Amino acid sequence: MVKAYFIQVSGALKTFFDSVFYPCLDATKGRPYGLYVHGNNDTTGAVRSVEGITKGMGWEKAADHVLVAGEPGKDDLRACWELGATVAANLMP
Ligand SMILES: Cc1cc2nc3c(=O)[nH]c(=O)nc-3n(C[C@H](O)[C@H](O)[C@H](O)COP(=O)(O)O)c2cc1C
Repeated sequence: MVKAYFIQVSGALKTFFDSVFYPCLDATKGRPYGLYVHGNNDTTGAVRSVEGITKGMGWEKAADHVLVAGEPGKDDLRACWELGATVAANLMP
């Protein structure tokens, strides 16, 4: 889950990726990922940032991103559930 801050991902998530990039590069290459971004109006930069990082790590997009602006509704929660289930199913051997 990503929160959009100043047209970017949060500093905490960026720090996380900074610290795991080299240690996890070989071990996680080719693994599936799902992206849920929440913001108030514009999640474009956060999505671009995560796509760049995950491309660098060699991760595979498992499903369409779920992008939510404002208060999440019932359909948004359902889409998040589907996203999580799809990533989990793709992680199974
Ligand atoms: C400093 C700051 C910068 C933000 N920048 C953006 C932004 O660029 N785009 C956007 O859609 N929302 C932006 N937001 C809104 C946050 O993404 C939104 O409030 C957050 O996802 C809500 O999560 P929470 O209620 O769990 O804290 C910003 C919020 C803060 C506090």
